[in-house]
Amino acid sequence: MKNLTVVDNPLIKRDVTILRNKNTDPSEFRLALSRVSYAIAIDIAKLFELSEFKVETPLEITNGYELKYQIVLVPVLRAGLSMVSSFLEMIPEARVGHIGLQRDEKTLEPIDYYYKTPKNLGESFTILLDPMLATGGSAVASFNHLKKKGAGKCVLASLIAAPEGVIKMQNEHPEIPVYTAAFDRQLNEQGFIIPGLGDAGDRTFGTF
Ligand code: PRP
Repeated sequence: MKNLTVVDNPLIKRDVTILRNKNTDPSEFRLALSRVSYAIAIDIAKLFELSEFKVETPLEITNGYELKYQIVLVPVLRAGLSMVSSFLEMIPEARVGHIGLQRDEKTLEPIDYYYKTPKNLGESFTILLDPMLATGGSAVASFNHLKKKGAGKCVLASLIAAPEGVIKMQNEHPEIPVYTAAFDRQLNEQGFIIPGLGDAGDRTFGTF
């Protein structure tokens, strides 16, 4: 799929297996999720543009680089919170917005309950953080919000994605790249990704 990058290496495969395993407890789950989030952050960073400036080392002046724009991380509450610390460690200067969405368990439609982002989205590079891309309803609604607030360059960082969600993103926001660590087979009747890893929010926070 044109808009999809599957970030993959042996460590990610090992960690996705830990995330999938139903016997993984929340503390191990959070650690594996953090490690995969680092890997995804590093891959997404290849999209960033740099400005060049002169830096003085103790020995001479040479070329240095800094990010051309502000990076804004936007976790989708609540599961997206689990990816924030890894991204912030890689990009400590990033600002953090929040979008509160909950998927209605019957209709699978996202319901908004919170929205707060920095003002300068137009000049920023926005990374939406949500471990699960299932129907794609939450991601599409989040980018609709962000674009209404003027967001320019955007990317979605997920950990596990279903074809249905990737296709919905491609149809509704074709210019937005989707990153994931696992591209799974399909959704089941309840809208869960299969084989998947269950509910990332519940498994991260132990609410099961
Ligand atoms: C899950 C997940 C995504 C959304 C994905 O959130 O974290 O936000 O569902 O589904 P979609 O692609 O079909 O919209 P959930 O509603 O379970 O809330 P939570 O993060 O509070 O657990």
